[in-house]
Amino acid sequence: MAAAPRCALYSCLLLCVSGIVPKPQNPRIISVNLHSILRWDAPRFHKGNISYTVQSKSINFPGDMYENVSTNLRLTECDVSSLSAYGDYVLQVRAESENNHSDWATIRFKPMDDTVIGPPDVKVKSESGSLHVDFLGPFAEHEHDKWPLKQYYGSWNYRILYWKKGGNTKVTHIDTKHNSEILSQLEPWTIYCIQVQAVVPEWNKVGELSEELCEQTTHNVFEQASQWFAVFCSAPTRRASFL
Ligand SMILES: *[C@@H]1O[C@H](CO)[C@@H](O)[C@H](O)[C@H]1NC(C)=O
Ligand SMILES: *[C@@H]1O[C@H](CO)[C@@H](O)[C@H](O)[C@H]1NC(C)=O
Ligand SMILES: *[C@@H]1O[C@H](CO)[C@@H](O)[C@H](O)[C@H]1NC(C)=O
Repeated sequence: MAAAPRCALYSCLLLCVSGIVPKPQNPRIISVNLHSILRWDAPRFHKGNISYTVQSKSINFPGDMYENVSTNLRLTECDVSSLSAYGDYVLQVRAESENNHSDWATIRFKPMDDTVIGPPDVKVKSESGSLHVDFLGPFAEHEHDKWPLKQYYGSWNYRILYWKKGGNTKVTHIDTKHNSEILSQLEPWTIYCIQVQAVVPEWNKVGELSEELCEQTTHNVFEQASQWFAVFCSAPTRRASFL
């Protein structure tokens, strides 16, 4: 039982006394809509100021050397969004203090796989017994550019989930490649709730759900009118009685 704490104590003594800088801990990628941050935990180090260097290397090109992404960082994070979305990288970070530095802590980074696809923007409008759902995005924002994620992934669907509000009603879903969908065949004067997410089968990815939006249907006046029309026209006896 004493082994682990004693070992920790010795390694602290060794590191603290010798001035060897311990390496950053727990490197991780936080990436949403291709906006990607490499984050790590500061090593325990009590001598002087510490700074960090982050480097990247492409796995697709084995001859490639590590390149600096950022040097002399004071924070324990680094924006790595400028790397190509389609790349496959090894990132490495080390701690530096005066003339000494730690070993590298490494992590694999594949932006298109690692990023979380955020929810789209959704609008719902109730019209003639149907619900019209429009959706947009999400977008990848790089400096001043804004590109739909859809353009990066190619095979892209929106999935619309909807259900009658209240109770434990069944959730129906429809997939579409378009940016809008009309939900018909709904019950009149009924509140339906809707969420939308991106689905990218080719990349085995499912995006985050948009916030729940609830909207009440109205009556389908056209359907009603056509029903009356049908009754009126197909009832010769009744028509006869009108004449
Ligand atoms: C750097 O590390 C060496 C041992 O690796 C040590 O002798 C030296 O004091 C350290 N320098 C500083 C500034 O901590
Ligand atoms: C740490 O950095 C600050 C600002 O650069 C400096 O004022 C301070 O003297 C440094 N401390 C050590 C121990 O080097
Ligand atoms: C990275 O930056 C450091 C400090 O600015 C520099 O000494 C080093 O040569 C750079 N490495 C590469 C591969 O560019």
